[in-house]
Amino acid sequence: MEKELMHVNYIEPSGQFKTVEGEAGASVMSTAKKRGVVGIEAECGGFMSCATCHVYVDPEWIDRVGRAEDLVDDTEDELLEGTVCPRESTSRLSCQIKLDDALDGITVRIPAEQS
Ligand code: FES
Repeated sequence: MEKELMHVNYIEPSGQFKTVEGEAGASVMSTAKKRGVVGIEAECGGFMSCATCHVYVDPEWIDRVGRAEDLVDDTEDELLEGTVCPRESTSRLSCQIKLDDALDGITVRIPAEQS
C-alpha cells in the first residue's frame, strides 16, 4: 500500500516559498532533505543532538505541532537554547515534527543560519 502524502510548505532563508510532498510518518526535516529544500542541515541525522534542523513553525500551526517547552522530554527544549539564530516562541527541531493528517499543509520558516 502506498503511503499517504502530505503537503509541507517551507520558507527558505532567502525568502523562497516551496511546497513539497512528504509521506505520513516522515519528519519535516527528512522531507526537506529529500526534496531539496535549502537551509536545514540536520548534522546528526535526526537523533536530536545537533539542533541544526531548527525551524520556526508558522504561528497558525504551533498549537497542532506543540511547543518545545511543553514536551515531556526536556532535550529538545534545551537544544533550542543553543541554536545559532535566536529561538522564537514557535521554534522547533524539524526532525521531531512527524507528518500526519493534522499537519497536512503545515508551514515552517527556516532560519538564516544553522551552524
Ligand atoms: S537533525 Fe539533529 S537535532 Fe534534528
